[in-house]
Amino acid sequence: MPYIKKVRIKGKDYWYLFHTVREGDKFLKRSKYLGKDLPKNVEELKKEFLEEIRNEDSSKHSKLIESLTLIERKVLPLLKKTNTLATLVKETDLKEIEVMRALQWLSNKEIIKLTKKTKEVVKLDKNGELYIKKGLPEKRFLSALDKPRSMQEIMEIAKLDKDELTVCLGILKRKKLIEIGKEVKKLDEDKEIKKMEDFLKQLPASPDALDKEILKELKSRKEIIKEVLEKERKASLTSLGKELLKENLKINLIESLTPEILREKSFTGKKFRRYDVKINVPRIYNGRRHFVNQAIDYARRVWTDLGFKEMTGPIINTSFWNFDALFQPQDHPARDLQDSIFLNKKGELPEFFKDKVKDMHELGYEKSKGWQYSWNEEVAKKLVMRTHTTVLSALTLSKLKKTEYPAKFFAIGKNFRNETVDWSHGFEFNQTEGIVVDPNANFRNLLGYLKEFFKKMGFKNARFRPAYFPYTEPSVEIDVYHPVHKKWVELGGAGMFRPEVVIPLLGEDVPVLAWGPGFDRMIMDYYKITDLRELYKNDLKQLREIKTWLR
Ligand code: DAH
Repeated sequence: MPYIKKVRIKGKDYWYLFHTVREGDKFLKRSKYLGKDLPKNVEELKKEFLEEIRNEDSSKHSKLIESLTLIERKVLPLLKKTNTLATLVKETDLKEIEVMRALQWLSNKEIIKLTKKTKEVVKLDKNGELYIKKGLPEKRFLSALDKPRSMQEIMEIAKLDKDELTVCLGILKRKKLIEIGKEVKKLDEDKEIKKMEDFLKQLPASPDALDKEILKELKSRKEIIKEVLEKERKASLTSLGKELLKENLKINLIESLTPEILREKSFTGKKFRRYDVKINVPRIYNGRRHFVNQAIDYARRVWTDLGFKEMTGPIINTSFWNFDALFQPQDHPARDLQDSIFLNKKGELPEFFKDKVKDMHELGYEKSKGWQYSWNEEVAKKLVMRTHTTVLSALTLSKLKKTEYPAKFFAIGKNFRNETVDWSHGFEFNQTEGIVVDPNANFRNLLGYLKEFFKKMGFKNARFRPAYFPYTEPSVEIDVYHPVHKKWVELGGAGMFRPEVVIPLLGEDVPVLAWGPGFDRMIMDYYKITDLRELYKNDLKQLREIKTWLR
């Protein structure tokens, strides 16, 4: 029964009605506010309150009933009498998978509770199946002996193979039912044969329910019975389920909306089955973009939103563009076979830039002495798989006309290095490259662009450490703060291109902000990938189930 209670909230008193109700297996407290003063007609209000709760419950029940699918409606009433998956399948004309689905849906709705147990079951094996139709070999053996017969005759009449014959001789002699001389003679009938056959007819069954001795004997014979571990699923009605079963489940609902129903307006006066959005159904995998490409597309949008134009270019370039144009000396360790992947071919050098770059390496310009060595054209001609997207920045600068800047460019692309592959190194990896060519650009702008980009990629904090690259001065190494692992993650380099890079390519000394951090580490964590190799392992399960890039 509902009861009244005064509740104190922030120093003031309020009157409430409370009532505890049972819903499924839970107890819920319902309440109704009465006022600051206790009303006079409390008894009447209690009745009203109860009535309200009852109405709410029954409308909840009818909603639930209206949401039951055909298979659920078929299975639910059976649960009064039986509760295992196997028996439910027997009692309906449904397939096991359908019954299973119905049970799952009913359990989602808290109408039933599902339990799963493994248990031993004795089943008919190959020969068992056969013998249950044709009779056990020893039975056939004996019935062939209307008179003493030879082995050959018995085999033919009883349709026994050699093995079966040997088994029969053993069993029947042990039981003293036959005598073997020149011919085989029957001494008595086998009184246990009926027991054995009844035993087989009982299967499948739990070993506990079976005659121990016969079980032992048949187990020792070839492929008559087998013991297997089976999962047994049981369903039991919850109290909500029991309540529902008291109501009328045989209602006629429209299961699906078809053009005919609409055309003929046959829905008038009828109800549709309620749509259950929480239902679990087999998953359908739609085609989708590779998850790395989803992240790249997003990053591409971030750069274009900031006014950057995309740079693209070939993966194979001359060393000239990949290294020399970036003022990387020809004896620099990165140009070693150990670090870079070279092709066995040479490419052409650009006439216009060749000598400009050569002079810069050998002599420098007014403010620099260059590298002070003799620059070798043949080394510059060697083709190389690009080791960084910075080659695109060099190529872009070489094509940029004076009238075209200030200008901003970005690239996201694959690079290749001769690395030993492990969880954090691949021979291919992505970088996101950028340059800002602007007479008014300064170092602080560089940090600003980078911070903005990383923020959009999900890293609020970025920090910059002093670093060295042959093509930038000043140079920084970029780290972003990993909010989950609570540590700094190193991403790669940035800086302002040296005049030794800019002057030969652009024809004048203009500030160029430049960066080229790695891209893959940034997205690995988003996808919960801990090994770089998993980015491209082409595992269908991973490709289907990995989350969509949403930033
Ligand atoms: N190219 C460098 C690398 O592969 C990264 C880099 C550093 C790129 C500084 C830049 C830069 O554009 O300015 O590690």
